[in-house]
Amino acid sequence: MAAACVNNNNDALIVIVITLFLIITLPSSSMAGSNFNQQVDITWGDGRGKILNSGKILTLSLDRASGSGFQSKNEYLYDKIDMQIKLVPGNSAGTVTAYYLRSDGISWDEIDFEFLGNLSGDPYVVHTNVYTQGKGGKEQQFYLWFDPTANLHTYSILWNPAHIVFYIDGRPIREFKNLEGVGVSYPKNQPMKLYSSLWNADDWATRGGLVKTDWSQAPFTASFKNLKANGCVWSNGVSSCNLSSSNSSNNNNSWLSQQLDSNGQRKLKWVQKNYMIYNYCSDINRFPQGLPLECTLRTT
Ligand SMILES: *[C@@H]1O[C@H](CO)[C@@H](O)[C@H](O)[C@H]1NC(C)=O
Ligand SMILES: *[C@@H]1O[C@H](CO)[C@@H](O)[C@H](O)[C@H]1NC(C)=O
Ligand SMILES: *[C@@H]1O[C@H](CO)[C@@H](O)[C@H](O)[C@H]1NC(C)=O
Ligand SMILES: *[C@@H]1O[C@H](CO)[C@@H](O)[C@H](O)[C@H]1NC(C)=O
Repeated sequence: MAAACVNNNNDALIVIVITLFLIITLPSSSMAGSNFNQQVDITWGDGRGKILNSGKILTLSLDRASGSGFQSKNEYLYDKIDMQIKLVPGNSAGTVTAYYLRSDGISWDEIDFEFLGNLSGDPYVVHTNVYTQGKGGKEQQFYLWFDPTANLHTYSILWNPAHIVFYIDGRPIREFKNLEGVGVSYPKNQPMKLYSSLWNADDWATRGGLVKTDWSQAPFTASFKNLKANGCVWSNGVSSCNLSSSNSSNNNNSWLSQQLDSNGQRKLKWVQKNYMIYNYCSDINRFPQGLPLECTLRTT
């Protein structure tokens, strides 16, 4: 009787162990898409960039001698990139964490997210910009509605033929429309890679360069997780998407034709009304000859 009991307990234990095994392994195998080892290369920083936990986490750090950075293995012509980032905590003044798409060459295209650090308790600034053919100057800056150093948050760049949208935790914060039809250039010919880096920019970043990096707080570290790159991979001049098909289900890429619905428009307006601190389209002094064309075509 006693022996039977022990056997039953063993059976129960085996069932529990198998169940735990399934619970632990199944979700991680369905998340197999996110593995920094397969998705990116750490390209500079002499060991200051690290891929940890079998590819699940990436950290970049900065000290007085150097920052660090990584780039995607793939290049894309149109994509939707999502990445979780936990920014440098504490006194991060002078540091910049950058996350951007960029093509090669002297007339490159670029879509930028930059996170400008600050003194403890003072707000980070999220800086965005769009370059076409090597020409930028389309800055918008925002404060955040949360502490970006306490937890991971998802920062996304959508780039499709109709528009570029910057998202934070799924909330659109900026839309740059394709207005080629009326003569505003739009990135559409040059494939871009994803880049990210952490570096010292205390000559301009915090309060315009007034606050310097406090090197006694170094090393500064930012963490990255769950990079999801949905994109039309560009390889040897060929796209993995059929861009001549307007039917997105042929491409299995709903993001390629994704629009901002009225709910998205409403969220975008909320951010722009409450958190936008700089908009080149409102900077009349900077453009004495007149605002850039796309600014005059906008309602906001
Ligand atoms: C840093 O904090 C100051 C004071 O609140 C603020 O004016 C500034 O916009 C913040 N961000 C940066 C990057 O300077
Ligand atoms: C791409 O889509 C177009 C339009 O739907 C179609 O005619 C063409 O055959 C497709 N090309 C490929 C390579 O699938
Ligand atoms: C789009 O493609 C899917 C799958 O090929 C097809 O079922 C659907 O009818 C197409 N829709 C249009 C509008 O062509
Ligand atoms: C479409 O995408 C989904 C989700 O990423 C994937 O599970 C599915 O296999 C894809 N289908 C095709 C035909 O590529």
